[in-house]
Amino acid sequence: MEFKHTPVMLEEVIEGLNIKEDGIYVDCTVGGGGHSLQIAGRLKSGHLFAFDRDADAVAKASQTLEKHLDKVTIIKDNYKNAPSVLQQMGIDKIDGFLVDLGVSSFQIDEGSRGFSFVHDGQLDMRMDKTEDVVTAKEIVNTFSQQQLMQMFYEFGEEEFAKSIAQNIVKARQTQEIFTTFQLKEIVENSMPKKVVFSRGGASKKVFQALRIFVNGELTGLDTFLQEMLEMLNSNGRGCVLTFHSLEDRIVKNVFKLESTNCICPPKIPICICKHKASVKLICRKPITASEAEQKQNSRSTCAKLRIVEKI
Ligand SMILES: C[S@@+](CC[C@H](N)C(=O)[O-])C[C@H]1O[C@@H](n2cnc3c(N)ncnc32)[C@H](O)[C@@H]1O
Repeated sequence: MEFKHTPVMLEEVIEGLNIKEDGIYVDCTVGGGGHSLQIAGRLKSGHLFAFDRDADAVAKASQTLEKHLDKVTIIKDNYKNAPSVLQQMGIDKIDGFLVDLGVSSFQIDEGSRGFSFVHDGQLDMRMDKTEDVVTAKEIVNTFSQQQLMQMFYEFGEEEFAKSIAQNIVKARQTQEIFTTFQLKEIVENSMPKKVVFSRGGASKKVFQALRIFVNGELTGLDTFLQEMLEMLNSNGRGCVLTFHSLEDRIVKNVFKLESTNCICPPKIPICICKHKASVKLICRKPITASEAEQKQNSRSTCAKLRIVEKI
């Protein structure tokens, strides 16, 4: 299947990065290379390091960036390792980074990756297919009702978590839950019909929760962002695109903390924390996609872009 992914808020991201032609940039989630292609095209003596944990994305990005491979290094790794990988390569300081969180359209559209409630396939959801972690199939067939319910609440904010978890445990007593469509059917049968019809992708939240759990998407995101901010040169920019409230909250909190001078509790009369802001917010409110983009690319409707600049 062809790898297709339309980069979200491309112009806004490129403007946000404020690219210098001799700068060092990091695309933490290269995907199909859409954002990276524009970054690389603006570099002369600069360099772009591009990470992705998905081998299919790395292969596609290598094609997309073919003409720029003299100034681009593509690395198949979890972006959480980017600070140490870069340091091992002798890169201590960077001029900008982009994190475009979540999954690519390719991962969703390719049924065999097991992410999608639209295309049938074996439940898997690992972004890195070589990683020895629990798959979505193992989770739905082995986790207790309580564990499933907690996961659906915590990572999906799913209001029908309890009945969904109950019905998963009941269904697997007769037959192993093997495919994305089997799971979708159980989820849809666990909620009122009017919710199924009004939601548009009734099982979206359950699939999101499983995906976040399988890939540990929220684990250590705050520490990673802080490490990346620390690596920025003065005036360097950090851009982060999020697609749901759980990840956006983490980004917002890190950016707020790092852009605040004193973080003492309000009742303390003089500052004892000595905390100094290391960045400034380029936009107080997150940037959202234009109406035109939202019409063309439904994935962009829930996207939020936050940008900071190193002081
Ligand atoms: C939204 S897509 C990025 C699309 C890309 N900006 C483009 O223009 O094509 C997100 C990508 O991030 C990758 N990804 C998600 N979490 C990751 C992680 N922890 N480490 C490395 N890559 C990750 C996914 O495999 C996916 O390819």
